[in-house]
Amino acid sequence: MEQYIIKGGNPLVGEVVIGGAKNAALGILAAAIMTDGQCMIDNMPDVRDTNVLLQAMESIGATVIRKGPNEVTISGKNIDSSGDLIVDNEYIRKIRASYYLIGALLGKYKKAQVVLPGGCEIGSRPIDQHIKGFRALGANVKIEHGMVIAEAEQLHGEHIYLDVVSVGATINIMMAASLAVGNTIIENAAKEPHIVDVANFLNSMGANIKGAGTDVIRIKGVESFHNTEYSIIPDQIEAGTFMVAAAATRGDVLIKNVIPKHLEAISAKLTEIGAEVEESDDAVRVVATRRLKHTQIKTLPYPGFPTDMQPQMAVTLGLSKGTSIITESIFENRFRYVEEMRGLGASIKVMDGNTAIISGVEKYTGATVAAPDLRAGAALVIAGLAAEGYTTVTQIGYIQRGYERFDEKLRGLGGLIEKVDSEKEANKFIFKTGTVS
Ligand code: EPZ
Repeated sequence: MEQYIIKGGNPLVGEVVIGGAKNAALGILAAAIMTDGQCMIDNMPDVRDTNVLLQAMESIGATVIRKGPNEVTISGKNIDSSGDLIVDNEYIRKIRASYYLIGALLGKYKKAQVVLPGGCEIGSRPIDQHIKGFRALGANVKIEHGMVIAEAEQLHGEHIYLDVVSVGATINIMMAASLAVGNTIIENAAKEPHIVDVANFLNSMGANIKGAGTDVIRIKGVESFHNTEYSIIPDQIEAGTFMVAAAATRGDVLIKNVIPKHLEAISAKLTEIGAEVEESDDAVRVVATRRLKHTQIKTLPYPGFPTDMQPQMAVTLGLSKGTSIITESIFENRFRYVEEMRGLGASIKVMDGNTAIISGVEKYTGATVAAPDLRAGAALVIAGLAAEGYTTVTQIGYIQRGYERFDEKLRGLGGLIEKVDSEKEANKFIFKTGTVS
């Protein structure tokens, strides 16, 4: 199995370019089948989750033409809606964002059968709010034999109040409502940048959505959608991951192709613990020359501190002076990396399942660790880059779900990291870097 092998101790220095936002791309790609026209989408991240979703879309007849790793043209014209529109295969069962096909297919064809997305490594991940929204719009939704089956004579606008601030439910309901008859209001909507990006994409196809990015989204249903060309926003979490990696390795990194506004919570926290963060129009520079300080963090929906940056900050605070506290308020099982971090010498204790007490240590020492999920995997790579000696990170398939060319980009910053899939290759890396300080 492929693994990352890392020789730690080198500060990350240089420039890195951020790719398109995975969590915007997944909603946008699914929404693209809602038109019989052509959607030309670029700045799409070439990661496992987007590639699996494109495969699932092709499996129901959508036209998907790759114009390169980050550009794709999609049309829903050839989807055969006479059938049951069943989306179920071994690949789609691996990604949660399959549920966006329910909102897209229900919106356009008034029916969808999509395999129920399972829980995942960070929590049970229910979709009750998605289903509540679809039912409010007039759809019959049932779960049978592990499939979500949704259908409607017609979808009509409705005033929907989400019980939980949910990114997925907000995007899914927004998609279905955009082709309903009448007006929909979504209250208590999520406000993440990727919600705004999906709304902008839908509007570029002819939807009429206002208020995305606030907690009240107003949608006037339209008849149908037309062609569009669209470029996906930069990935806030990939950018944040490199910002934190620069700080954790006491480096100096210019992170390019970002929207600084989307990174404010991360920039504020890094500044608070002693890193220097310089913002320009489409880049941020992070410099950390001395040991960082402790802080307290509570993950919150946007614009609060993002849960997807929680593991990366935790491993950085594990090397800071003093004791830090991180409270994970979004997911119930997002500290599974703490066990792995013990192997590197971290001193982190999880209380009541959602609060980590982090006592800063002077250094980490390299070890073999297993990535428990996407963002925790990235965090363990950061820890390995900061550790003394060699670290091996296994189960890196999780990381490849959401980070494009992660090891390549880190090497571009002077990180000593390689993807290997044999003992022989690992030994070659150790031999090659053994003499490098
Ligand atoms: C999206 O997941 C992201 N995934 C997650 O990123 C991200 O962590 C999360 O939003 C929060 O920002 C994608 O966009 C593909 P939610 P999503 O619905 O939409 C509860 C990553 O690393 N909830 O906002 O599934 C839920 O249990 C991934 O890129 C319900 O109770 O998250 C959670 O506690 C990990 N009922 C909270 O809401 C529902 O119907 C927030 O979940 C839906 C959600």
